Amino acid sequence: MKARTLLAVFLVSLLAVAGCDQETMMSEKGFRLPDGDAQAGREAFLYMQCHQCHTIEGEELPAIGGTEPPYIHLGGKVTKVRTYGELITSIINPSHKLAKGYAEEVVSEDGESNMYVYNQHMTVQELIDIVMFLQPYYDVVVPDYRYTVYP
Ligand code: HEC
Repeated sequence: MKARTLLAVFLVSLLAVAGCDQETMMSEKGFRLPDGDAQAGREAFLYMQCHQCHTIEGEELPAIGGTEPPYIHLGGKVTKVRTYGELITSIINPSHKLAKGYAEEVVSEDGESNMYVYNQHMTVQELIDIVMFLQPYYDVVVPDYRYTVYP
């Protein structure tokens, strides 16, 4: 009985360690893009026609002919984006968490975001610049972490 209990405790702790390891390996801790250029980000935003589906609170964007609302509002208080990591994730992995405050069928289909995935087309520089452009519209928390540049 005792041995069996010990074995159970051992197996459970082994699982816990394994789970922990997996978490550590997949941790986003320390992730930080270099600072971008907000003006270039605005240009990239328009060039990639993000405003086909988005408005930005407090930002005048040119209208795209033939586009119908509903628009998804970027920035402001009522948003899912709370952190820097979430802002980046919402661009490169839109289905990970859907914007809140909209009916599911407006923002997604079968759980997949209606947003285009730009990963095959957007350069890392464009991503960096777009994040720099959008960030001030959100109340996001930027980790105070600089990656080390090794000489
Ligand atoms: C075809 C329409 C469409 C286009 C074009 C589009 N998006 Fe989206 N986007 C959506 C939809 C729908 C959502 C809400 C569902 C979700 O969270 O993925 C969204 C959500 C987002 C969010 C998260 C909003 C929140 O508050 O959670 C960000 C940030 C974003 N888009 C940025 C961009 C950027 C940057 C571009 C251009 C590179 C872009 N989108 C182009 C449809 C689009």
